[in-house]
Amino acid sequence: MANKKYNFGAGPCILLDIVLNGASDAVKDYNRTGISILEISHRSSEFENVIHECQSLVRELLGVPDNYSILFLQGGASTQFSMVPMCLMQQLKRASYLDTGCFSLKAIAEAKLFGPVHIVASSKDSDYDHISYDYYIPGDSVYFHCTSNNTIEGTEIFTFPETNVPVVCDMSSDIFSRQINVADFDLIYAGAQKNMGPAGLTLVIVKKNASAAHGEFNSFNVRLPHL
Ligand SMILES: Cc1ncc(COP(=O)(O)O)c(C=O)c1O
Repeated sequence: MANKKYNFGAGPCILLDIVLNGASDAVKDYNRTGISILEISHRSSEFENVIHECQSLVRELLGVPDNYSILFLQGGASTQFSMVPMCLMQQLKRASYLDTGCFSLKAIAEAKLFGPVHIVASSKDSDYDHISYDYYIPGDSVYFHCTSNNTIEGTEIFTFPETNVPVVCDMSSDIFSRQINVADFDLIYAGAQKNMGPAGLTLVIVKKNASAAHGEFNSFNVRLPHL
């Protein structure tokens, strides 16, 4: 592209020409089917193939084990701030959160609408200039939530806790930037616009058998918020 400009902001990320050209070809005529990808049924085998290919690329690149589902959801990472507690929090059972910056604070505010939240540690008093590693996760927490990379504050978690509590991680701004062991987490979510593609899509990687592995951890236990 002549006079290509680069966005050095945290997002949306720059996309390679091969990606932009492939996408624009598909918008005009998807795989020589004579119809745009925007016009074919979202239930057609052609479209399902797109989703399946994306899922298997994510599985290959991140080494996602077979017992994890890969979901492409709408609403950005912010929607996961409420979907996670909506699905995983149980009445009168607390969720534990590590407060490391503006986005973890937003996640905490949403979780509080659904039930009790326990903050294991916070670096708010020092303007989030570091991440505390000195904390204890109560064993009765329904899950532990952390933000692996604090986009605005510029701090990143290098060592994740070893715990029997299910670990949920917002990886919006460092996913695919380093190798992770997906098996260390029960649920990973990331808005696409930082490290993967355009805004509007959220990648969620969730352990399929989370409820069996963690007894009362029930990923289909949807409740309404206390507004
Ligand atoms: C770490 C982190 N979490 C959540 C968000 C919110 O993502 P979204 O705009 O997709 O809701 C962002 C960025 O905007 C982020 O950097």
